[in-house]
Amino acid sequence: MGPSKVVLITGCSRGIGLGFVRYFVKHNWKVLATCRTPHEAVELKKVLQDHNQTEIIQCDVSFDDSIEACYQSVLTLGITHLDLLINNAGTSNDKHPFENPSRMKRDEFHRILDVNATGLAMVTNRFIPLLQAAADPLVVNIGSMFGTVSMVDVLTCASYRCSKSCLNMLTSLYALEFSDIGFLALHPGWVQTDLGGKNPKPPLTVAESVGKMSEVIAAFDKTKSGQFWSLDGYQLDP
Ligand SMILES: NC(=O)c1ccc[n+]([C@@H]2O[C@H](COP(=O)([O-])OP(=O)(O)OC[C@H]3O[C@@H](n4cnc5c(N)ncnc54)[C@H](OP(=O)(O)O)[C@@H]3O)[C@@H](O)[C@H]2O)c1
Repeated sequence: MGPSKVVLITGCSRGIGLGFVRYFVKHNWKVLATCRTPHEAVELKKVLQDHNQTEIIQCDVSFDDSIEACYQSVLTLGITHLDLLINNAGTSNDKHPFENPSRMKRDEFHRILDVNATGLAMVTNRFIPLLQAAADPLVVNIGSMFGTVSMVDVLTCASYRCSKSCLNMLTSLYALEFSDIGFLALHPGWVQTDLGGKNPKPPLTVAESVGKMSEVIAAFDKTKSGQFWSLDGYQLDP
């Protein structure tokens, strides 16, 4: 067996991020699991310990200092390349999904954009050198069908939707800039997480969503770089 591949994932404390950690440790990847408050991420810590992985790395994608410290921690671990970066960290607001554009608040809109789009870009930018050191690197941005402009039919989640449209645009622009790195925006489906909500209950478990997304990731080739795909293996409008 060759050396294990290296993945860095943001927002691993719970939900889909934690699901990705469970998936990749089982598949013998070296997993660099990041989250905002490591001391509170009890479940994540246990999963990493059980699989002899390195400790949780702190990373709040809203702060450049935190991203830089995360990058330095990764270097200190002796990591010399990154095969996969999963920009998973995401947020919405307490009005989700009931937020018309006319009700948006400046601070709230900026906070959501900051995590879901700006933070994603800043993390990506910092890790470009390690990605370029990998043989066939890929950046996966966890988007949402809610970001698709052609699918706007109901008035929901205005700030969140704009942030996910932004994510799609960033994915395409990065693909244009870097031909040596793959970039993929990926819709996880409607998933049973805090963000997915409880009422009504979303149809997909985290494990189901992550399992399907991992198949799309494994089937990625550079002809798809910059595109937006569904967990079910078909391309979506950005
Ligand atoms: N669930 C769905 O149905 C669904 C559908 C479409 C897209 N998505 C996307 O899937 C991704 C994961 O969402 P989820 O459903 O797993 O939601 P979740 O359970 O609410 O988890 C969100 C994760 O993002 C982290 N996070 C929030 N702000 C952060 C920041 N500034 N820096 C670093 N991490 C931060 C949270 O950390 P803390 O614990 O520290 O808050 C948490 O780990 C998001 O990008 C979301 O938009 C989800």
